[in-house]
Amino acid sequence: MNRLLLLCFALLISISSCKKAEKQSSSTINKRGLIAKKAMVVSAREEASKIGADILKQGGNAFDAMMATEMALAVAYPYAGNLGGGGFLVYRMADGTTGALDYREKAPLASTKDMYLDGNGDVIKNLSTVGSMAVGIPGTIAGIFEAQKRFGKLDIATILKPVIALANNGYIITDKQEKRIAHYDSMIRAVNEKEVLYNNNLKAGDNLINTALAETLQRISENGRDEFYNGETAKKLVEFLQKRGSIITLEDLAKYKAKWRDPISFQYDDLTITSMSPPSSGGVCLNQIMSMIEPFDLKDYGHNSLKAIQVIVEAEKRAYADRSYYLGDPDFVDIPMETLTSHIYLQDRMKNFSFKNPTPVDSISHGDIVGYESDETTHYSIVDQFGNAISVTTTLNGGYGSKLYVDELGFFLNNEMDDFSSKPGEPNYYGLIGAEANSIAPEKRMLSSMTPTIVEKDGELYMSVGTPGGSTIITSVLQTILNVHEFELTMQEAVNAPRFHNQWLPDEIRMEPNSFDADLIKDLEALGYIVNIKRTPVIGKVDGILMLDDGTLEGGADKRGDDTAVGF
Ligand code: DON
Repeated sequence: MNRLLLLCFALLISISSCKKAEKQSSSTINKRGLIAKKAMVVSAREEASKIGADILKQGGNAFDAMMATEMALAVAYPYAGNLGGGGFLVYRMADGTTGALDYREKAPLASTKDMYLDGNGDVIKNLSTVGSMAVGIPGTIAGIFEAQKRFGKLDIATILKPVIALANNGYIITDKQEKRIAHYDSMIRAVNEKEVLYNNNLKAGDNLINTALAETLQRISENGRDEFYNGETAKKLVEFLQKRGSIITLEDLAKYKAKWRDPISFQYDDLTITSMSPPSSGGVCLNQIMSMIEPFDLKDYGHNSLKAIQVIVEAEKRAYADRSYYLGDPDFVDIPMETLTSHIYLQDRMKNFSFKNPTPVDSISHGDIVGYESDETTHYSIVDQFGNAISVTTTLNGGYGSKLYVDELGFFLNNEMDDFSSKPGEPNYYGLIGAEANSIAPEKRMLSSMTPTIVEKDGELYMSVGTPGGSTIITSVLQTILNVHEFELTMQEAVNAPRFHNQWLPDEIRMEPNSFDADLIKDLEALGYIVNIKRTPVIGKVDGILMLDDGTLEGGADKRGDDTAVGF
């Protein structure tokens, strides 16, 4: 009897400790994103992450997986994934060397500074955002081929095979996708003057096949990058565009080249941060904001606390004011880069900061530098089994870009021309103000906010991170890095955490709705800040990979979208 009691007792203890262990492990799972031992891809669609990871498994590296993931996003996430857009890549090789590739769209040869202004010098509504005049020369195919040619290991046909199969066999429309397509349906129909493949008859759960895109990809697989810029695809594209009043010519396509750039690199505490240089403002602004906030003890203030938000927002204001004045395509304008990112200049910019009240926006403007004259995108991060890391943000600009859909080729075209400043001082779609530095000129690249970023800690790879979100990209990347580094959140928690944003003008702090404490908002308002919780339901859709102490990788896939990490 005693032995039986003892046995029951032991059984009870073991059941309860089992339960405890189960609970512990499930709470650990909640906190951390997907863990992988060797390699990982995090992107906006499971299909794309999986295709990228499969390419890695076949012996490809991050640059092979880049081509596969980017094209799979063009198939399964046409909202932003693209052949008709452009993007930026920041990489860190296993040996620690870093670099960047600019495959941003360019203004057509026939473009002019005032092309979006009417006879009175006023901006013509919608001309830079919708239809054929909004389209910049696409850079995506040039970009993925350039990166793969320099660093990739596999042949193009092997890389594109699963992508072509995805387009031919179809993918499942998700709930979020159904809503997005329905939202844009009337605009897409209006611009194309007919129903296109992506229309509001599509419902979640439907399998969508895009044969035209499969054929385009097949030709690209056989003929290489030239198929898009000089081949049959180029001819079809230009014919399509010119029929619709575009100024884009075959010469524009033939002249397009992706460009290797030196990325922006700077220190923050024990982190080395490498991010995209102009024509993206991402790296410069991130550098400026992080240098301005570095002297403050954010950790002590606490995550999303009043004081932390004040410091970050005030630094953001100053960086965005500089952005609007100084930044543009470095091939066309002189950017006083050294000064803009120098500690002395940035300390001086924060000199009039006070915790007592907001610095008025009209007293900020851009800093004086002596001698100086003058909603869609997608991000993916990849770490391969060889230790190379890439961070890539690519875009059509708005959701489905210009809404122009090239039926015969199976893809949407960008409306990236709106990222230029059509008229100094006039806000663009994202409310961003521009100046001469970002005015339109033939073959110039429009200023971007895309911020693909790689972080090292103590000289080792630490994080690959980035996001869509127009003007909110820079501040979303910033908060994600701070969430991990200052506030010790896991990669997944850092991505999930509510975000806020300030871009100097309009004079407001945007905050994600239903995410911040009502008292915190009241406190900000009491200090004199204007808080806007209605403007954007989500701020950014961050994807990232964090290298953990034990050498494993943690994925952070944003729950705001269908984003998914896949690894092995
Ligand atoms: O390059 C840029 O900054 C913009 N065209 C990005 C647009 C974007 O992120 C839209 N996503 N929500």
